[in-house]
Amino acid sequence: MKKILLTGALGQIGSELTAALQQKYGTDNVVATDIRYSEGAFGEGAVFETLDIMDGQKLLDIVKKHKIDTIIHLAAMLSANAEKHPQRAWDINMNGLMNSLEVAREENCKFFTPSSIGAFGPSTIKNNTPQVTVQRPTSIYGVSKVASELLCDYYFTKFGVDTRGLRFPGLISYLTPPGGGTTDYAVDIYYQAVKKKSYTSFLDRGTYLDMMYMPDAIGATMRLLEAESGDLIHRNAYNVTAMSVDPESVASSIRKHIPEFELSYDVDPIRQAIAESWPDHIDPTAAKEEFGFNPQYDLDRMTADMLKQVKPN
Ligand code: NAD
Ligand code: SER
Repeated sequence: MKKILLTGALGQIGSELTAALQQKYGTDNVVATDIRYSEGAFGEGAVFETLDIMDGQKLLDIVKKHKIDTIIHLAAMLSANAEKHPQRAWDINMNGLMNSLEVAREENCKFFTPSSIGAFGPSTIKNNTPQVTVQRPTSIYGVSKVASELLCDYYFTKFGVDTRGLRFPGLISYLTPPGGGTTDYAVDIYYQAVKKKSYTSFLDRGTYLDMMYMPDAIGATMRLLEAESGDLIHRNAYNVTAMSVDPESVASSIRKHIPEFELSYDVDPIRQAIAESWPDHIDPTAAKEEFGFNPQYDLDRMTADMLKQVKPN
């Protein structure tokens, strides 16, 4: 990888992945793009282009102009927002992906895009969910993620595009707010713990979901991107996770630092239904075996860092 382009770079993942790639490969060698523009978002000397991923010709022009050899496609609509705008979600998540894959094919680029635990559904085994299993999701986000995994497989087998992907769980971070997902409570709870010493959860008690701290998500992405292509059997959709938590277990971890922290519930039926259709805990063995996935943060270690980082903000 010599010259890397990201779509959706101003989002929760892109803002941190862009910085990590700039550090590793050099600021000049990373081209951040997003439909939005944010002055100075990626520091001095950063290369930024405004790009609506629906404009495939403009993506092709940018890739040619900067001699890009790796595309990291992050622009998408997340689960809760997608459920409010299903047609638009399908359009962005599928046609945006198709545009990026086409450019990767034409320009012979390596390609990475995330899938999600949302690619599973209620008929999937909920605990220790295998790498290869039933995928019949009931949210439009999940339907688009299964189709994305398959489309990336197709571009690999049909055209030889070096596609790669991870099924991310809920990602927890403090630099950029999450973009409208079902797992967003697990970020908000830390901000409210610091600000008000209380939090009202939109997911119900006992709703277990996989989560991961952003440094582990960035680490997993970099490792997968650098892995030898020949080592990757499940190349487009590795299960990755670092913990399985419900709102009460996050609250208990927070109380080790803020003993008076109070948790209450006001359940949002739409996000609750999505959460209940997802696994409690997926099995990341294939990622460990095939590219050395090795998360460093469990719940308590992540909580300690989140509270430390959120405080100054
Ligand atoms: P996000 O919502 O934080 O960011 C998405 C970015 O895409 C935003 O900056 C937005 O401006 C941009 N965007 C939206 N429409 C666009 C368009 N038409 N053209 C160009 N840019 C556009 O999302 P994220 O959390 O960074 O997620 C990135 C990817 O990772 C998505 O595919 C998402 O499904 C996946 N993922 C995220 C999580 C998570 O917890 N954050 C978990 C699993 C999978
Ligand atoms: N965090 C994401 C969401 O809730 C999982 O894909 O949409």
